[in-house]
Amino acid sequence: MPALEVIGLQKEFGGVTALAGVDISIETGKIAGIVGPNGSGKTTLFNVVAGVYKPTGGRVLWHGKDITGKPTYEINRRGLARTFQQAMSFSGLSVRENVQISYEHGRSHSATSQRKINWSSPDEILSFVGLDRVANELAGSMPFGNLRLLGLALALSTNPSLLLLDEPAAGLSENESEVLTNLILRLAEMEIGVCLIDHDMFFMGALCERLIVLNFGTKIAEGPPSIVLNDPSVVEVYLGIEK
Ligand SMILES: Nc1ncnc2c1ncn2[C@@H]1O[C@H](COP(=O)(O)OP(=O)(O)O)[C@@H](O)[C@H]1O
Ligand SMILES: [Mg+2]
Repeated sequence: MPALEVIGLQKEFGGVTALAGVDISIETGKIAGIVGPNGSGKTTLFNVVAGVYKPTGGRVLWHGKDITGKPTYEINRRGLARTFQQAMSFSGLSVRENVQISYEHGRSHSATSQRKINWSSPDEILSFVGLDRVANELAGSMPFGNLRLLGLALALSTNPSLLLLDEPAAGLSENESEVLTNLILRLAEMEIGVCLIDHDMFFMGALCERLIVLNFGTKIAEGPPSIVLNDPSVVEVYLGIEK
């Protein structure tokens, strides 16, 4: 059984169809990528799965259980976490205090979670993402790259078995992007599933075992990067090249 299964998912905003019936399944311990042009519904897909928006049609199953339209805290509690492009941190608190709050909160809902690892302390998570040396500094004083890592630490501290990362490499330097790539690979080794969105096809092709391509709220291709990136319909959508 896949960890996450999305069946015929639809989302309309007023007259705009953001998702027009999308079917996706995601396994834990694997790295899957969602790609597609701007406005193709990638972020909406994450938002609907994570409970930020209720879908206008279709279902979301988590380990076979229907979680469609459940509130975000309930979904997070079951082991599904997402990160945001802007780290949702308390800027007036230290990096460690931020992770501590999320960690304590995460510990309170161990029973229903499909958790894979039990972090022994907030510091263990900070070491994992490489923020241990700046643990005492204010989150608000962190440079952009570290804030992104803090966002990842906050998501990890809720003990997810699947992480949804929305454009985690956007705006990062090449070095920072490499650090992030290694972290994602280690998460997969630890049996934590990662599903990420990004525009950078090279970054995604190198990292993901499976790519899912959305266009106008519809899945137009899915499979290993080597096949998907050579699919004429994907090439056309991405590069505007005629078939
Ligand atoms: N909260 C919202 N209200 C109205 N329209 C939205 C909202 N969120 C997304 N949309 C629309 O849904 C479509 C898909 O957006 P989005 O999921 O953000 O795409 P992507 O992440 O692939 O760039 C776009 O046309 C966007 O304008
Ligand atoms: Mg987006």
